[in-house]
Amino acid sequence: MTDALVKAAIDILPKAYAPYSQFQVGAAIQDEEGRIHLGVNVENAAYPVGSCAEAGAIAAMIAAGGKQIACIAVAGRGAELCTPCGGCRQRLREFAAPDMEILVCDDKGLRKIFTLETLLPHSFGPNNLD
Ligand code: THU
Repeated sequence: MTDALVKAAIDILPKAYAPYSQFQVGAAIQDEEGRIHLGVNVENAAYPVGSCAEAGAIAAMIAAGGKQIACIAVAGRGAELCTPCGGCRQRLREFAAPDMEILVCDDKGLRKIFTLETLLPHSFGPNNLD
């Protein structure tokens, strides 16, 4: 399943709309039923209105009835690892356990695996509001 998720993120990457940054990102979420949901970054001439690939994949998962993120692959080109931005770490946190794996990829394959907890330690989540 890891291979399929990585491939899905890489395959969707060229569909990203990133005319301003030229930095395309693809994301593929595996939900609790094993279904895959895709997202890409969608930029906007009014820069702050643009959205990240992870946000798109989360929206697709929720719209399809998915409840939990079992795993996510994020793909972006370049020398640096394309780790989710701070805001997206928090977005993922809403629907994922601390040990959820984040597969960081470039356009050729998997580069590094992080857990959500590693990237967002001591996080604030839904349980904080109980
Ligand atoms: N981007 C994502 O899609 N996900 C991230 O986690 C990091 C950044 C996008 C936003 C923007 O369109 C471009 O990458 C450059 O920041």
